Amino acid sequence: MGALAGALPSILLALLLTSTPEALGANPGLVARTTDKGLEYAAQEGLLALQSELLRITLPDFTGDVRIPHAGRGSYEFRSLNIHSCELRHSALRPVPSQGLSLSISDSFIRVQGRWKVRKSFLKLQGSFDVSVKGISISVNLLLGSESSGRPTVTASSCSSDIDDVEVDMSGDLGWLLNLFHNQIESKFQKVLKSRICEMIQKSVSSDLQPYLQTLPVTTEIDSFAGVDYSLVEAPRATAQMLEVMFKGEIFHRNHRSPVTLLAPVINLPEEHNKMVYFAVSDYVFNTASLVYHEEGYLNFSITDDMIPPDSNIRLTTKSFRPFVPRLARLYPNMNLELQGSVPSAPLLNFSPGNLSVNPYMEIDAFVLLPSSSKEPVFRLTVATNVSAILTFNTSKITGFLQPGKVKVELKESKVGLFNAELLEALLNYYILNTLYPKFNDKLAEGFPLPLLKRVQLYDLGLQIHKDFLFLGANVQYMRV
Ligand SMILES: *[C@@H]1O[C@H](CO)[C@@H](O)[C@H](O)[C@H]1NC(C)=O
Ligand SMILES: *[C@@H]1O[C@H](CO)[C@@H](O)[C@H](O)[C@H]1NC(C)=O
Ligand SMILES: *[C@@H]1O[C@H](CO)[C@@H](O)[C@H](O)[C@H]1NC(C)=O
Ligand SMILES: *[C@@H]1O[C@H](CO)[C@@H](O)[C@H](O)[C@H]1NC(C)=O
Repeated sequence: MGALAGALPSILLALLLTSTPEALGANPGLVARTTDKGLEYAAQEGLLALQSELLRITLPDFTGDVRIPHAGRGSYEFRSLNIHSCELRHSALRPVPSQGLSLSISDSFIRVQGRWKVRKSFLKLQGSFDVSVKGISISVNLLLGSESSGRPTVTASSCSSDIDDVEVDMSGDLGWLLNLFHNQIESKFQKVLKSRICEMIQKSVSSDLQPYLQTLPVTTEIDSFAGVDYSLVEAPRATAQMLEVMFKGEIFHRNHRSPVTLLAPVINLPEEHNKMVYFAVSDYVFNTASLVYHEEGYLNFSITDDMIPPDSNIRLTTKSFRPFVPRLARLYPNMNLELQGSVPSAPLLNFSPGNLSVNPYMEIDAFVLLPSSSKEPVFRLTVATNVSAILTFNTSKITGFLQPGKVKVELKESKVGLFNAELLEALLNYYILNTLYPKFNDKLAEGFPLPLLKRVQLYDLGLQIHKDFLFLGANVQYMRV
């Protein structure tokens, strides 16, 4: 007893601590995981991008003093230094737990061309040269973070480079000068280039990689009133084998965004890493969408007699109701009815392993359309149904399709006496199948966009439904420009 009492505070403390993230509502709605395979692909593509970037740069001029035999010190100048060819051969991109990524490039090669000039009072020589820089290796740590706007950030936190060998080849028939350069300038060139490589990498990270990462959409329009918030809820998380990015994944009303009362569930991603990327999309994403569409009145509908097929044995007229609601026909002879449907609360999706369903509950108010063109409420029905949803996903979007379930109609209130509401089931089924389902299915076919960087496409797609979330796996293709 005493031991238990003593342990209680620490148990409580442990419970409090472990429940904190949920209590703060900080769970992401969507998690994107890049596996080691994905990082390997990114490293290859990054290397190609860097390679073509290198071909476009001009290295700064460099100048210095040189000892000229029998003449004393003179000055030299290398200018118009262009990278003429470049082959970056091996690269690796690895996660660095709790920091970010480490990029290493090895066994690479560049050739630089330019003009040289040597001066010593009266002496003035010039020509062109060609430098081969061999055995280049570069190692950069990339620190990943997120801005207050929720966009990802990347900075090169450290960089080191090495060059095995530099060979200068100069034009002209000046053997003595060539030797001079071999002895005095190659090592200097090596040193200068070595420091320039990291400068260039830092510049490329801040002026190419960072803007590219920021092409990740923070908010994306879904349609005229809904948008999705893809801001990062925390800095990207690196573990030994993968990189995970946590997105808010909230659907909001574009004209009047209000705080969401739902909490995103904790997602435990399966330990899969056969594909390059995985996305876990929690029910939070779909349910915040449901809230927005519900608020917009998207789920409201109205049925009038002109929408009923001509061969229906029940029509929305008081006359047609006479056999089973005699009082209705008596009180309102020869008038039309209108059924107004709404869904009192936004329907929430049920995710269970392998299945996705939603059980919308509708209320339908029946009105008599009076000759004065006002509407008189006469009875209220409720309609319950089980709908299963089929989801698929293509190169960039999740799309869906609803499969109708059986509807169950009940009479809730009536000013014209009780009657068997099941008689209206066929009529409601007809309307729901022919009007409501197509409307929702058209919307679901438009799809829900995944947070993808520019020019990234997905293929080899796989989709699983887990408790509380969808789990999508894919390989990635970067569409080079
Ligand atoms: C939808 O219908 C309900 C019930 O008639 C109503 O209270 C609600 O205001 C409607 N919503 C919109 C956005 O029209
Ligand atoms: C999914 O739902 C369908 C229809 O309700 C059912 O037939 C099927 O057995 C369910 N599958 C799983 C894995 O629960
Ligand atoms: C929907 O499914 C639930 C649970 O499977 C069941 O209790 C309910 O009766 C079903 N409703 C309809 C309208 O079929
Ligand atoms: C993916 O689905 C969206 C929405 O249905 C569609 O617009 C797009 O063309 C599809 N893309 C491919 C490659 O099928």
